[in-house]
Amino acid sequence: MRKLAAGNWKMNGTGSSLAEVEALVAALPAPSCDVLICPPATLLSRMATVADGSAIAIGAQDCHANASGANTGDISAEMIAEAGGTHVIVGHSERRTDHAETDAQIRAKAEAAWRAGLIAVICVGETLAEREAGRTLQIVGEQLQGSVPEGATAANTVVAYEPVWAIGTGKVPTLDEIGEVHGDIRARLGDRFGAEAQGMRLLYGGSVKPSNAKEIFAVSNVDGALVGGASLKAVDFGGIIAAL
Ligand code: 13P
Repeated sequence: MRKLAAGNWKMNGTGSSLAEVEALVAALPAPSCDVLICPPATLLSRMATVADGSAIAIGAQDCHANASGANTGDISAEMIAEAGGTHVIVGHSERRTDHAETDAQIRAKAEAAWRAGLIAVICVGETLAEREAGRTLQIVGEQLQGSVPEGATAANTVVAYEPVWAIGTGKVPTLDEIGEVHGDIRARLGDRFGAEAQGMRLLYGGSVKPSNAKEIFAVSNVDGALVGGASLKAVDFGGIIAAL
C-alpha cells in the first residue's frame, strides 16, 4: 500500500511557518508516498490554500464530537472540512493526558470525523510504566478496542502507534518492539474488520527523524509515520518523506 508521512505540528507555527510548507510543495512535486500536515487550527485554512493543487493534504489535531454548539474553544469536524482539511488526528496521547480524553470520547470524535467526510488518524500507545510492566500489547489493545469505532475502513481510518515515552524524547523502541506492536494491531484490526484491516495504514510515531526513518519504515506492518518535531522544517520532513 502507499505509505503516509504525517506531520503533527502540535502547538507550533505561525503565519511565517507557511514558508516551510511552500518549500515542501516546491521540493516534492510528486512524492512517492502520501503526505499530510496537521497544523494548529489557526493555520488550517491558510495552509490548505498554500497546499492547494499539491500532493500535500492538510488536517487538524483534534475535533469535537458534535457538529456545532455551545462548546467554547472547540472546533468541529465539519469546520475542519470547510477550512480545507481532509484528516483529523484523534486520541493523541497529549490529549489523553492533558485533557483526560477517554477511549469513548475518542471513538465519538472518530465517528464525527467520518460524518464530515474526514479521515480519522486514531492514536494509541503505552506509557513507560506500562511497557516496563509488560503491559504494552494489553494497553494498546484496549485503546484500539475502545477508540476505533465499528465501521472503520482502509479509506476512513489510519491508526498511529505512538509509545508515550518515545514522543519528543529521542528514545525509540527497537525495530523488533515496533514490529511486535504493529503486528498485534494488524491482527486485532483483522479480528474486527476482516480483510479491510489489511489496507488500513498503521503509522509509527515517536522521535522519527530523517536518520532513523528508513529502518523504521522497513519494519513489517509499518505503513508510514506520525512525526512531531521533525515535521516542522521542510528539510527534515522532506528527509523523512524521501526515506519512504
Ligand atoms: P516527536 O516526533 O516530536 O517525537 O512527536 C511524535 C508525535 O507525538 C507525533 O504526533
